[in-house]
Parts: sequence; structure tokens; C-alpha cells
Amino acid sequence: MKFTVAIDGPAASGKGTIARAIAEKFGFAHLDTGLLYRAVGRRTMDQGRGVVDEGVAILVAKELRPEDLKRPDLRGSLASKAASRVAAIPEVREALLKFQRDFAAQEGGAVLDGRDIGTVICPKAEVKLFVTATEETRAQRRHAELTAKGEKRTLEMVLFDLKARDARDAGRDTAPLAAAEDALLLDTTEMSIEEATAAAFAAVQEKLRD
Ligand code: CDP
Repeated sequence: MKFTVAIDGPAASGKGTIARAIAEKFGFAHLDTGLLYRAVGRRTMDQGRGVVDEGVAILVAKELRPEDLKRPDLRGSLASKAASRVAAIPEVREALLKFQRDFAAQEGGAVLDGRDIGTVICPKAEVKLFVTATEETRAQRRHAELTAKGEKRTLEMVLFDLKARDARDAGRDTAPLAAAEDALLLDTTEMSIEEATAAAFAAVQEKLRD
């Protein structure tokens, strides 16, 4: 059986949590596509001694290795910023395209979360969700995550970074962050994790019944 769930949304909207819950409940494989860009961004910074060089980023994306995705520092603010810089480079996106499409087409079902899954990577996905929440809510969630990891950033700094990254992701020319026309919109601002995942489960179950 082939069945693809595409989940997109801005930073810290809850899409990763929902994607993982769907994967677990329905036995689908899960790919956090943000991790690919984070790994490319982080390695590009290492090689450029802190600077994101376009040529280096393209080479890194073409030669991305599985172990690059296992680095422990991919969830930090530095990796977030580097990810959204390299993600705006069309050749970087192109280099990561096949891996994502092959993953989506695997037997047994797959759920992918990112920014362009429903629009570019899997426009024919059986289920498309666009997960959002207000900037303040998302900043609070990300601040709590980073604080738990030991990063010392104020809520204001996190909100500032998040707004800048959203603007870069939504404003780029290639595969900008956008909801697919046929995506189900899920605003998680006032929702608990249980409520959000229940709504997502219902959307998947409905399609599986078809
Ligand atoms: O967890 P969070 O939502 O903050 O970020 P992420 O999903 O890990 O993505 C990190 C960055 O990678 C985003 O800000 C985007 O610039 C980029 N990205 C993308 O361009 N396309 C994707 N499919 C996934 C991530």
C-alpha cells in the first residue's frame, strides 16, 4: 500500500508532533524534512567557518550522508537559522528532492513534514495538512523547548528569530512556505496536543476508508 500524508506549516506550529503521532498510530514511516535542511545548514557553516556560502551549501546537499542527520546540534537556534538560509537556494532544494519523493512513495505509507510537502514534494498526497498557530504561541513553545535543552535565549529573542525565519521561508522564490489549496487547515493555538492529533487522525482515517 502507498499512502502519503503531507504536513506543512511555519516554525514550531506543532507539525512534527502531529507527524510523529500519525506515523505511530498508522504504522507509517516518518521523515522530518526540516532535519535535511538543518543538516545541510550546519555542515555548510562548519565548512565556511560560520558563514553560509552558496556553493558550499550546494555541494553539501548533494553529498548529504545519513550520519549528518544524527548530529546532536541540529535542533538549536544556530541550525534553524542556517537551515532557512540554505533552504532558499534552489539547487539545494533540487538536490534533496529525489530522496524525499522516494521516501514518500515507499510501501506501507509515509508521513513527511516540512514547508513544501503538499505543494512541491508530494502534490498528490492522499492527505494534506497545514498546521499553524499564532506567532506568540509558537515562540512560547520553541522557547520552552530551547530552554529545556539548555539554550539561554529570552522569549523576545526566540520570537524575533521565528518571525525572521517565517518571513524568509514564506518570501523565497523557490518552494515558499504555503498551504496547498486542498490542505486541511489546523490552527493549534487553542488546541491541546491530543485535540490536534485527534483532528489529524480523523483526516487520515477518512481517506483510508475511501
Ligand atoms: O521545527 P521548525 O518548524 O522550527 O523547523 P524545521 O521544520 O526543522 O525547518 C527548519 C528550516 O528548514 C525551515 O525554517 C525552512 O527554512 C527549511 N525547510 C524547508 O525549506 N523546507 C522543508 N520541507 C523543511 C524545512
